[in-house]
Amino acid sequence: MPTPLRLGIAGLGTVGVGTVRIVQRHAQMLAARAGQAIEITAVSARSRNKDRGVQLDGYAWEDDPVALAMREDVDVFVELIGGEDGPAKDAVEAAVSAGKDVVTANKALLAMHGQALAEAAEAKGVTLRYEAAVAGGIPVIKALTEGLAGNEITRVMGVMNGTCNYILTRMQSAGLDYTTVFKECEELGYLEADPTLDVGGIDAGHKLALLAAIAFGTKVDYGALTIEGIEQITIEDIEQAADMGYRIKLLGVAQKSGNGLEARMTPCLVPESSPLGQLEGPTNMVVLEGDAVGQIVLRGAGAGEGPTASAVIADVCDLARGIRLPVFGVAAKALETPKENAVETPSAYYLRMELFDKPGALARIAAVLGDSGVSIDRMRQYGHSAETAPVLIVTHKAARDALDTALSAMRQTGVVASAPVALRIEDI
Ligand code: HSE
Repeated sequence: MPTPLRLGIAGLGTVGVGTVRIVQRHAQMLAARAGQAIEITAVSARSRNKDRGVQLDGYAWEDDPVALAMREDVDVFVELIGGEDGPAKDAVEAAVSAGKDVVTANKALLAMHGQALAEAAEAKGVTLRYEAAVAGGIPVIKALTEGLAGNEITRVMGVMNGTCNYILTRMQSAGLDYTTVFKECEELGYLEADPTLDVGGIDAGHKLALLAAIAFGTKVDYGALTIEGIEQITIEDIEQAADMGYRIKLLGVAQKSGNGLEARMTPCLVPESSPLGQLEGPTNMVVLEGDAVGQIVLRGAGAGEGPTASAVIADVCDLARGIRLPVFGVAAKALETPKENAVETPSAYYLRMELFDKPGALARIAAVLGDSGVSIDRMRQYGHSAETAPVLIVTHKAARDALDTALSAMRQTGVVASAPVALRIEDI
């Protein structure tokens, strides 16, 4: 048997402990599959004395993850600290400089610094892998880089934040408002330490930025994404969408559009009967479309100890097997800079607004839409209060520019009581 592959694991939170458990539980099976024993030689975390419910006695301890990354007896540095800067970045950079392969679950780090890290790794001849960073236990990076290598990817879509999917589906099934379900999530421990990462669409945006780079051979460009969170989604939107046969999802979409790359993580309506529409609870789904394969759908747990550690170990096994792919599927220097002026693909839109209940109000809104070239498909007025009436409009396919012009003109009419809500109805 060849010498063991020696891991140094930095970060002993949920995913770190899960990774240690798999290495301990499946030592023989992993050795057989990887062709080499997988061993942990050293670990690092913020607190040494905490009881993590896992045996760590046989491993060397380092207080400093950078020191861990540079140890002679570590072949693969496993970064499970998290955060786009600080110790995680310092330690990954140190590992790469020291000629170590790296496995990480850190989507923020790669979304913000992926290009520089990929160039550094390739210059050093080391490999940087991050299956666990996107959609937890779903092997989506492997699917894109290996399983679909023969395809031109035409579109990547996904629900990639389980917390948001839990909130939206729980609001719907229990008829609860956003604030109540958000509090439930706090109690269930579903939220990131900074909940804006979840409900603001940032965590899911990091994941989409990584998938877009791999799928379209472009440099990771998180800043180019359009990102909207779910905070403004009301139970009313969810119920009205359901009444029309749709579900609301925080949906990521990346596709070539015009001259550039369209990448957005926004709340969208999807047909209730579609796989995305049927996705309940804190689960993830990624939909990949290729010119040869057509559409494939991957569904599974996007977070949690077992699923995320499963993806970490898959990367470790690939390193042991000698599978060494470029970080984003093609050499870092060959990644293109996405061209600017990507236009949003035209789409039907769901619009909800409160109109002052006075003669001609609806006619003004219809005229504004018509003047901007936006055609109405369906319209409904319901549930009057004393002064205002809620109105729903579903448009035919319209360009985003035209819709934005109409939304801005609506606010000048004096007949809308608050800013209209506008959500895409995604063609899937
Ligand atoms: N907070 C994320 C989620 C998991 O809810 O899906 C980590 O990315």
